[in-house]
Amino acid sequence: MDEKPKINQGLEGVYFMESEICKVDGKAGKLYYYGYDIGELAKHSNFEEVSYLLLHGKLPKQKELAVFKEALASNRELSEDVINLIKRIPKKTKPMHTLSVAMDLIGATEKNAENGSMEEASVRIISKMASVVGAIGSIRNTGKYNPPDETLSHTENFLYMLDGEKKKKDVVALTDTMLLLHAEHSSNASTFSGIVTISTMSDIYSATVSAINTLKGPLHGGADEAALKMIKDGMDKDPDKYINGIISSGGRIMGFGHRVYKTYDPRATIIKEQLKKALRNANKETKKIADAAFGIEEAAIKVTGKKGIWPNVDFFSGPVYSCIGIEEGLFTPVFALSRAPGWCSHIIEYSRNNRLIRPTVYYTGAVGKKYVEIGNR
Ligand code: CMC
Repeated sequence: MDEKPKINQGLEGVYFMESEICKVDGKAGKLYYYGYDIGELAKHSNFEEVSYLLLHGKLPKQKELAVFKEALASNRELSEDVINLIKRIPKKTKPMHTLSVAMDLIGATEKNAENGSMEEASVRIISKMASVVGAIGSIRNTGKYNPPDETLSHTENFLYMLDGEKKKKDVVALTDTMLLLHAEHSSNASTFSGIVTISTMSDIYSATVSAINTLKGPLHGGADEAALKMIKDGMDKDPDKYINGIISSGGRIMGFGHRVYKTYDPRATIIKEQLKKALRNANKETKKIADAAFGIEEAAIKVTGKKGIWPNVDFFSGPVYSCIGIEEGLFTPVFALSRAPGWCSHIIEYSRNNRLIRPTVYYTGAVGKKYVEIGNR
């Protein structure tokens, strides 16, 4: 047998490329998109501008942003085929599956999917993903598709498509901040899976679909839904006992822990602040959920903080989405539509200097076995 190499389970600590897009400083608890601190962006910028930043590597001038917003708005409409797919898919289908097949259909029917400009395709992907999630939300609840409104901002229109109602400014602003905070996070699992797909010289739509399906798992984007379920489960219990029960049975605190952050996730800090603000106008049930979240957070940190396991972006996201009025089943799809610019920017960056991604496993099985006919086994 060959000498056993060092195996990086989960590819931990493996560098596979150089990138200028995003820095995650896990020790200091800092996050930068193209050098801009996430706190600064959350305070002063918006999702459309950040999407431009991620796709072009610089903040836009006024005219550039206007052209970009116009491109996003003019690509919102979904084809009859996509609307019918969402209407006909079995009612029990999880929205992440519906989002995945709808985006695959969009890619399959896109004329230039294989050979058009990836920058242009990215704008269509960002735009259409929000429309698809809006349509899924509305069709699931009412059977009705609300056509997009080109006069609204990207976030305003997404919320409008969910139920056909225009939202108050503070709700739009809160949602927009959530989208911006989720827009990018370096070589996370879903982005990496999109990069693996593009490295085979597949197309950017297929790479996005790979990323969507990778985001779905509860160790990644699915943690927002799982964290809210856990918070609700622990709601009327003593938080310390509840947390100790999970840990002593070998379970995980959902919305806690991160491969890179060994301190408080800076996005979670901002989301917690936003939640406190949003609670002023929240209903009784949401306030109760948020109180439970604060209690569970404190109890969990007592146990896990010393091991470097702190709240991540997903812990307070569920309570915030509840304040906005977004249903649980749509949390991860909303994460997906927020991450679209990050996925696209990495897919484009990688393909500029493409090399097929094909890592190696250390084989520990046998060789030279004799084939035995089926009747003689
Ligand atoms: N609760 C309890 N223990 C934990 C947790 C947690 N949330 N996270 C890690 N640990 C423990 C784990 O049990 C293990 O302990 P031991 O060494 O005693 O066996 C140790 O920490 C290392 O775990 P790991 O799984 O090897 O560490 P990782 O770097 O792969 O963890 C993680 C990253 C996100 C998979 C993990 O923290 C986790 O499962 N968290 C819960 C799910 C979650 O919130 N995911 C969202 C991640 S951030 C947003 C996103 O990517 O979408």
